[in-house]
Amino acid sequence: MLENKIQAIILAAGRSTRFNSGRTKLSERICGQEMILYATTLLQKIGIPTTVVTGYARDVVESIITKRHGSALNFIVQSEQNGTGHALLCTKSIWNKDALLVINGDMPLITADIIEQLAQKHFESNAQISFVTAHNSDPSLKGYGRVVQEDHKIRIIEPKEFHGDTHEHCCINAGIYIFNKKFLQESIEKVERSSITNEFYLTDLIKIASEAGHVIKTLNVPFDAVRGVNDFKELWTIEQIKRSEIISQLMANGVRFYSAQTVHIDIDTTIGTGSYIGAGVHIINGSHIGSNCHIEAFSIINNSKIGDAVTVYAHTMVTDSLIEESCKIGPFAHIEGNSTVHHNAVIGNFVQIKKTTIGAKTKAKHLSFIGNANVGTAVNIGAGTITCNYDGVNKHTTTIEDNTFIGSNNTLVAPVTLSKNSYTAAGSVITSNVPENALAVARSRQINKEGYAQKIKEPGMQSPYIAAIKTNSSHIEGT
Ligand code: UD1
Ligand code: CA
Repeated sequence: MLENKIQAIILAAGRSTRFNSGRTKLSERICGQEMILYATTLLQKIGIPTTVVTGYARDVVESIITKRHGSALNFIVQSEQNGTGHALLCTKSIWNKDALLVINGDMPLITADIIEQLAQKHFESNAQISFVTAHNSDPSLKGYGRVVQEDHKIRIIEPKEFHGDTHEHCCINAGIYIFNKKFLQESIEKVERSSITNEFYLTDLIKIASEAGHVIKTLNVPFDAVRGVNDFKELWTIEQIKRSEIISQLMANGVRFYSAQTVHIDIDTTIGTGSYIGAGVHIINGSHIGSNCHIEAFSIINNSKIGDAVTVYAHTMVTDSLIEESCKIGPFAHIEGNSTVHHNAVIGNFVQIKKTTIGAKTKAKHLSFIGNANVGTAVNIGAGTITCNYDGVNKHTTTIEDNTFIGSNNTLVAPVTLSKNSYTAAGSVITSNVPENALAVARSRQINKEGYAQKIKEPGMQSPYIAAIKTNSSHIEGT
């Protein structure tokens, strides 16, 4: 319904000067999502056709939007950043609906509800302009225009020009407006440059409409919902608010957070009912955690899927990988590179799994590197086992079939296959394939030198180690 009457313009050309970072603030991520996408996804969700005004760091902003929305949104370029009024003027040629919704691109917390209520108020009251305000009488609040109502007139005074009492003028301008197209066509060019900043203020349109006696409506909403982001401190504040919204929703869905204030949860992640999230955990970048999982402290789950009833012990990293149900991972494990760990497997302390498939019920419990490997089901990988997957030029595959038992401290030199039910002896360097059911022993045989200890302690005898150093030889033979 709304899409027939209204089109949206997002102002996103500004220079982000208060960030001092040399980048556009609109590309800063908030709970994993670039700031500008909060406005674009909201308008897409409501279904209003949208144009974005870009300028400063235009390539960056446009590519973020296009990556998410394809060609669903249009761009208009404001080549010189002469203020919000000028940014709106740049879009004049594409005004094609009766009303225009104009919003700042730096307000990530606004909700569909606010836009819908503003639109309803605007169309019900036949206003020329409707805009959103919020109560905030804090005199130290910076960066917001103040709504001043005097002598039945209303106007917005920008911070550098406001010298009044914030308690008397206790409402700020949020930066969300609906204008009737006709009024805008007649009035936009009447906006003059500010003598202080030399910019054209979009907000001057309120004064122009008010002085012409037009109906102007305001919608007052909670300040938090319309916070703008003008510097890194405000970015931090907004991210806290956004994150606590996400966490509150998860808590309502039955997720237990041991220390909610220390976790990082991105906007595009899910966590199933009955799961426990420990202190300092990061669940980021489109990760999905199943139900009844136990994710212990300081683990990072990045772009990964964790099945139901998985335990991830402390200090574990899972990146770009899939962990199926009922696995136990960590502590201090590292699963990465599109690895899959099938159900009920155990990956223990200081085990790194990279570009590898681990079969169901397989165990690698201590101090291993398994890379470029296909590991079958119910395999036991002894402590300290390493796949030598890299010859300095190419990576090679290690195949470990079902029910294999790999002794401790094995070196598996790829390409190599250990067939079903085979065994390898502890300390082996496996360079050739091991047949089914075989035991491979690939290590030097132990020699015991009887009576050695007494012999070197005899008066006049010298330790063979000292002798070896003296002759500058590393080759130590028996006595
Ligand atoms: C603006 C409002 C202020 C309001 C506040 C709410 C004006 C003059 N002031 O101030 O009343 O309280 O938002 O957060 O509008 N932009 C352009 N081109 C430009 C300048 C800015 O596209 O030449 C874009 C920016 O990228 C940004 C938006 O417009 O997304 C707002 O600009 P910003 O500089 O942040 O305005 P504020 O000073 O915050
Ligand atoms: Ca702003």
